[in-house]
Amino acid sequence: MERQGSSPRPDWNDVAAMLGPDALEALDRPIDQASSLPNVCYTSGAWQRLEQERLFGRSWFVAGFTQDIPNNGDAVPVTAAGLPLLILRDHDGAVRVFHNVCRHRGAVLVDKPCSGLKILTCPYHAWAYGLDGSLRTRPHFHGGDRHDIVKDAASAPGLAPIRAEVWHHWIFVNLSGEAPPLADYLDPALSRIEAYDLSATRYAGTVHFDIQTNWKFALENYIEPYHVFAAHPRLHAFVPMAKRMPSQIDDHVMWNRYSFKKAEAGRGEGLPHFPGLDDEAAHQGFWFILPTAFGFEVYPDHVASFRVDPVAPDRCHERIDIYLIGDAATAPDWHEQRQAVLDMWDDLNHEDIGLIESLQKGRSSPAYDGGRLSPYWDEAPLHLSRMIIDGMR
Ligand code: FES
Ligand SMILES: [Fe+2]
Repeated sequence: MERQGSSPRPDWNDVAAMLGPDALEALDRPIDQASSLPNVCYTSGAWQRLEQERLFGRSWFVAGFTQDIPNNGDAVPVTAAGLPLLILRDHDGAVRVFHNVCRHRGAVLVDKPCSGLKILTCPYHAWAYGLDGSLRTRPHFHGGDRHDIVKDAASAPGLAPIRAEVWHHWIFVNLSGEAPPLADYLDPALSRIEAYDLSATRYAGTVHFDIQTNWKFALENYIEPYHVFAAHPRLHAFVPMAKRMPSQIDDHVMWNRYSFKKAEAGRGEGLPHFPGLDDEAAHQGFWFILPTAFGFEVYPDHVASFRVDPVAPDRCHERIDIYLIGDAATAPDWHEQRQAVLDMWDDLNHEDIGLIESLQKGRSSPAYDGGRLSPYWDEAPLHLSRMIIDGMR
C-alpha cells in the first residue's frame, strides 16, 4: 500500500465525498432498508489510503505478536497501515515500537527479523541507535575518522516512537497517539470472558492465508454465522443453526457465543482446559471482532486470534494464531492434539476463502453496489461497516 507523501492529510470531507451522500444515508437506515457499504470501499486504492490515514492511523490495531520477539534483543520489521514499523524487545524485556526509518537519510533500519541485538545500526552510513531508540554514535560524521559520540541523547535525533501496549500475546499500536486507552477499547470483550485466565495460554502455532479479497470482507465473514449451514458442514454439525444466535453488539465490539454438548478434536477435546472452568464455560465458545482488523475466539482449551492485514484493495493477509493452556502449547506429548487444533482452523478458513474472494469479484458488477440484509443475522456486519465509517470521521 502506498501513501500520498506530499498531499495534504485527508479529512472527513474526503471520506464523505468518496462515499457519497446516498451511501451514507443508506448505511444509517433501519436494517430492513439499509444497504451495506458501496463498491468503492472495497475496490479503490484512494479509499484504502483514506482508511490507512483515518482508521488505522487513529485507532488501536494489532501490529505484532509477542511470540515473534520472545527474547530480549529480538526485533521484527513489519509493514502496518502502509508504514514500515520496527517492533523489538529491549534489554529490560519491554516491547517497543518505532517507525522503522533512520533519522539521517531515511533508510529502512531493520529489514529482517533479528535476535541478540545490542544496538541498531543503519545499513547505509552506520548511525547507531540504542534499543530505546536513542541515537548513540554517528561514524565519520564530522569528517574522516572524526566520529560523533552522542552525549546528550535527548537533543539528538532518535528513532520516532509509536504508542504501543501489549495485551497478552498481541502488540497493539496507535499511530496518532490520541486514541482512548487500550483497556477501554477491549473492555466490552474482556468483561465477557472473565472466567478464562488468558495468562495461562502459550503460543502453539500460526496458520497464514493470502486472500484475493478486501480486508473488510474477511472481517464481515468472521462475525456473521449466517453462512455456517451452507459453508461449514463440520461446524454446522458441531452447533446447528437452530442453536445459534446472531452476533451481538456492545458499543464498538461485535461478539457471539454458542454452547456445545460434546467437545470434539480441535474444539475442547483432548487438551487441558483453562483452570477452574465450570460446566457451562467448559462447553461454550466465544468470539469477538474489534473494528480495526482483529478478532479472537475463546474455547475451553484454546484461544485463537485473527488478524487481517490490508495489502491492496483486493488483497489481504490473514493470520490465525493459536494459544493453548500451559505445556500443551509446546510439549511433544501434545503434538497430535495441538495439530488437530491448527488443522481445524486451517480447514475452516479454507472453506471461507473461495466465498470471500467471490464477494470481491461481485463488487466489479454494475448490478451491485451494496446489498439488502437479513434483519435477523446481519446487524453485526452492518454495525461493523458503521464502526469503520465512524472511525474515519
Ligand atoms: S540513512 Fe541511516 S545512517 Fe544514513
Ligand atoms: Fe466461515
